[in-house]
Amino acid sequence: GNRTFTMIKPDAVKAGHIGGILAKINDAGFRIVAMKLTKLSTEKAGEFYEVHKERPFYGELVEFMSSGPIVAAVLEKDNAVEDFRTLIGATNPAEAAPGTIRALYAKSIGENAVHGADSDENAAREASFHFAATEMF
Ligand code: GTP
Ligand code: MG
Repeated sequence: GNRTFTMIKPDAVKAGHIGGILAKINDAGFRIVAMKLTKLSTEKAGEFYEVHKERPFYGELVEFMSSGPIVAAVLEKDNAVEDFRTLIGATNPAEAAPGTIRALYAKSIGENAVHGADSDENAAREASFHFAATEMF
């Protein structure tokens, strides 16, 4: 697949890292297909992260993801899903490889700066959750 879906999470938006993160994304060769600054309601955040609803951190995750504005975007590149997950690094910034977005900008395992879709199927589902077909270029 050649598209992935990402969000710059509330911690990174609040800390002023939108520009730094977009520069890393650009330098890694991704093309922006769709992008917006938006805010998730708790209901929408709960729906977006529904796959995690049985996990112990679900409540905290939904609360955090609806705590402030996010940047949602669809990105295009060969092997987009896998290459983007390499660019962002491990979920826990303490384990993220040097130079990755999470190593540079994440605060903790929960407040970890960015989201990256984990499969082509989820990338497509997440893109259409946030964008109409007419908003993707
Ligand atoms: P995403 O790209 O955001 O999906 O992260 P991921 O694929 O690296 O991790 P995963 O899908 O397993 O978890 C989704 C998100 O839940 C993580 O990015 C964190 O924000 C949050 N999360 C995961 N594990 C923990 C945890 O142990 N504690 C807390 N508070 N949050 C967690
Ligand atoms: Mg995930």
